[in-house]
Amino acid sequence: MKSFPLEPIEKASIDELRTLQLERLRWSLKHAYENSPVYKAKFDAAGVHPDDCKTLADLAKFPFTTKSDLRENYPFGMFAVPRDQVVRIHASSGTTGKPTVVGYTAKDIDTWAGVVARSIRAAGARPGDMAHISYGYGLFTGGMGAHYGAEKLGLTVVPFGGGQTEKQIQLIQDFKPNIIMVTPSYMLAIADEIERMGLDAKSTSLRIGIFGAEPWTNEMRSAIEARMGIDAVDIYGLSEVMGPGVASECVETKDGPTIWEDHFYPEIIDPDTGEPVADGEQGELVFTSLTKEALPIIRYRTRDLTRLLPGTARTMRRMEKITGRSDDMMIIRGVNVFPTQIEELILKRPELSPHYQCVLTREGPMDNLKVAVETAPGVNPESIEARAAAKQLQYEIKIHVGSSVEIDLRAEGGIERSVGKARRVVDLRKK
Ligand code: DLL
Repeated sequence: MKSFPLEPIEKASIDELRTLQLERLRWSLKHAYENSPVYKAKFDAAGVHPDDCKTLADLAKFPFTTKSDLRENYPFGMFAVPRDQVVRIHASSGTTGKPTVVGYTAKDIDTWAGVVARSIRAAGARPGDMAHISYGYGLFTGGMGAHYGAEKLGLTVVPFGGGQTEKQIQLIQDFKPNIIMVTPSYMLAIADEIERMGLDAKSTSLRIGIFGAEPWTNEMRSAIEARMGIDAVDIYGLSEVMGPGVASECVETKDGPTIWEDHFYPEIIDPDTGEPVADGEQGELVFTSLTKEALPIIRYRTRDLTRLLPGTARTMRRMEKITGRSDDMMIIRGVNVFPTQIEELILKRPELSPHYQCVLTREGPMDNLKVAVETAPGVNPESIEARAAAKQLQYEIKIHVGSSVEIDLRAEGGIERSVGKARRVVDLRKK
């Protein structure tokens, strides 16, 4: 197998990294101000100019960018290069309103492929390996983002995309890839199907899974690793900032994604006040692009909640595995609840499967949470053991999360399967 050394910047000292970041940050602010009228108007309204950025901490003087800025300037209004220099468009659909549109120059595509290649390498892959990609291709950044990165690293790529689960399995058996890139929830659906075919999920050629695009817990990691006989690592990203590969986990530590800080500068803010908080403190993740040309993104509020941690396998900082998006936070009688907290507890019960949904209803002024969860294959939801598991789950949610919930046990197949991001919260409350 060919070796593939780390890039020099992955081994640089913190001082070298900060110097590079400041230089690039000043370029990025200037580029946004001079070439995107939307950023110019935002900076002018806030009374700041790119020249005011003399240290990395000065970034906090600049205004935030949100999804609404992108929506209001739909489709290409925030681009900072002429449209004929944009070689690729992606978009995220969102549930309401217009999609969020993002664009890339040829250099942006190369930068993106570079950070994804770095991510795949950090997961333990090397040139010559084969990657099966089940992230969706198309306007979603998952498929093509993973694809270009895998090719750049020198992998053989199988660009399958989402869906046709049986066919995916057939090709995994025939082509023998050792790497799979897919959402963790669709990985589970693939594993279910392998087992339904009477095969042992551990017997496939797969050795590394690079999972992201949705929150998943360390408990889910252990469950998938044990079932598939693979190393499972977490890849993070969002289309507004680039796509997959903004941050990714190193297989030797599996302690949260390392942020590729030479291209994406992270901050954590208090979501209520917008004030930056110190490393180690929980809050909302905010990113500023340092090298992006077509769509520079300045202090983008991701709505993802996490904290920044010191580097371990690399000098660059890590983010703690995402506990949830502020959009997915449920408030049940005053208690904040995230689907990942429920997931952790479900995975402790062997009688239950990891397929679940949180269903919100309202009775009078009260919000109710029903946790719909499938029993494990072969376990009848009516059986005594299943009912005991449901009671235990209900008790643990009360003790550990602080909420009284109802448990709705479903038979195998009772929870909708998604081929991409799973829908964890179903909101049936009347608006
Ligand atoms: O989901 C990009 C991506 C594709 C990342 C494939 C990883 C793998 P969007 O559709 O714009 O982009 O959604 C971005 O998904 O703000 C998070 O809320 C969530 N998300 C992405 N990766 C993770 C992860 C892609 N590893 C939104 N853990 C983000 C938790 C994640 N949440």
